Amino acid sequence: MSGRFIVIEGLDGSGGTTQVRLLSQTLGAHATREPTDGPVGKLIRKALGDPMFVGDGVLPYLFAADRKDHLERVIEPKLSGDVDVVSDRYYHSSLAYQSLAMPLDQVMSLNADFRAPDLCIFLDLDVPSCMARIEARGLARDRFETKRQLEEISAQYGAVLAMLKQRGDRILMLDAADSIPSIQKQILAAVKGLPTVEGLK
Ligand code: TYD
Repeated sequence: MSGRFIVIEGLDGSGGTTQVRLLSQTLGAHATREPTDGPVGKLIRKALGDPMFVGDGVLPYLFAADRKDHLERVIEPKLSGDVDVVSDRYYHSSLAYQSLAMPLDQVMSLNADFRAPDLCIFLDLDVPSCMARIEARGLARDRFETKRQLEEISAQYGAVLAMLKQRGDRILMLDAADSIPSIQKQILAAVKGLPTVEGLK
């Protein structure tokens, strides 16, 4: 037996953080996120807030190092201990966001060794709605939170998700404009359908 590894993805402002919290509470799962709260993740958060800290070309390597650390330190031990893991972002984010700075096949190679999640939920939201939510949040914006960049990242997500589905990754796309409870219900229904599930805990 092993825990289930579930990832929630989407553009900035698509509501992933809320759904990670709700799903992990319902499942009694371990909630986690990327960038992580580990040493490399901390470095990344500093870099995201300050474009002078490291260039965009360095970020793909930092995200891959953070992911390796995340898998070794958090994800694999929890899954082996039969605990479900719900992560706010995973390699899908790198493939979409970092392929603005580096060819997609190079980002793919940096992430080639990382296990696929049992399920990825992609919260699909149009860029104007994402921008409106980011503005309403009123926090400092990180380097990707501009309309033009989100449009490019959105297009990249489309291509990347199609490619990952093709190779057998299990991905479910949901309309992130739905209400929070409605999305939560759809996510739970999808998790119930996972092959390894013997019923929700
Ligand atoms: P985010 O989940 O938005 O963090 P917060 O809730 O603290 O704002 O993630 C931070 C940013 O990092 C977001 O713009 C997406 C980006 N990102 C990448 O560019 N590549 C990656 O591999 C990951 C995991 C995140």
